[in-house]
Amino acid sequence: MTDLTAPALRPANPRFSSGPCAKIPGYSLDLLGDAPLGRSHRAAVGKAKLKEAIDLTREILGVPADYRIGIVPGSDTGAVEMAMWSLLGARPVEMLAWESFGEGWVTDVVKQLKLDAIVKTAPYGQIVDLTTVDFDRDVVFTWNGTTSGARVPNGDWIADDREGLTFNDATSAVFAYDMPWDKLDVTTFSWQKVLGGEGAHGVLILGPRAVERLESYTPSWPLPKVFRLMSKGALAEGIFKGETINTPSMLAVEDVIFALEWAKTVGGLQGLMARSNANAAALGDIVASSDYLGFLAADPAIRSKTSVCLTVKGADEAMIKKMASLLEAENAAYDIAGYRDAPPGLRIWCGATVDTADIQALGPWLDWAYHTAKA
Ligand SMILES: Cc1ncc(COP(=O)(O)O)c(C=O)c1O
Repeated sequence: MTDLTAPALRPANPRFSSGPCAKIPGYSLDLLGDAPLGRSHRAAVGKAKLKEAIDLTREILGVPADYRIGIVPGSDTGAVEMAMWSLLGARPVEMLAWESFGEGWVTDVVKQLKLDAIVKTAPYGQIVDLTTVDFDRDVVFTWNGTTSGARVPNGDWIADDREGLTFNDATSAVFAYDMPWDKLDVTTFSWQKVLGGEGAHGVLILGPRAVERLESYTPSWPLPKVFRLMSKGALAEGIFKGETINTPSMLAVEDVIFALEWAKTVGGLQGLMARSNANAAALGDIVASSDYLGFLAADPAIRSKTSVCLTVKGADEAMIKKMASLLEAENAAYDIAGYRDAPPGLRIWCGATVDTADIQALGPWLDWAYHTAKA
């Protein structure tokens, strides 16, 4: 096909970025009118909002009552770093990485914390052999590789009788996959992915075994205040009730409360997963009917349903840039060039805040951009 005529129908919302992701359908800043701006986050009204965000997170994700949920500084990176610096070092570590964020955690553990770590990595589009993971060690992994479109298939590979802790960077996975909480000792995410929230804060979910580690082990290295989960020898329980370590953005908190409330209106976690699945399936149909698109993650069992990464036949970085800029100029798709460290390709967010009709409308535009860029 070499038809260079631009398609008639545009996606109603051209926002397909993999983070920050599309806001919830029908979003408007007017929704945030109830944010307690200019008030102390330690006033009753501020603390109530923070607690509401925590409670809604627990309800929608089905987080067990004995797991703690805290809102922490520094987005997902802050939550992962805080967990690694507070908890690692008690036993050897195994690091699993299949794209740039996981590789970043490897760097921290090996070069900054200088821990005894087995490091297993896989190229973009693949994951490591999960059958060889040693759960006597603490294991750090990324559930969904946002920059590679590869993910773990489920949590079955995680040992029930593990001695080590599991650290799950789930920032592009929560609210899109069922999380097997009994297998996860530490889980982290940020709001701007599947919820379409704002970047700012991280969410840290600690299971009982992680809390036990905090209470029984003190790392040999110093911890900055923004990482400290312990206070006067005891767990800082306030963090898990909305008493944040430092000042949060109440605008971002109000925003995520709306996103969580919206999640309830579409059927909660099941509804969110169904929306993401439908989007990924619609994109799968586009790929199947195209002679130039493919999946970076060839194996469907480990293929992301959120950050779907596509190969484009014969395209180098310059051609991908050209396609992305043509689509942006036409307001047909924003921010769909693959991540800078990934092989040249496209990355299209299929999380729950995207409408399936917009993915469907994107198909003809991809054809147009491909043939136009090639010509
Ligand atoms: C898997 C993964 N980990 C960590 C991060 C960093 O998240 P944040 O920017 O919220 O710190 C991202 C961001 O895209 C991510 O996709």
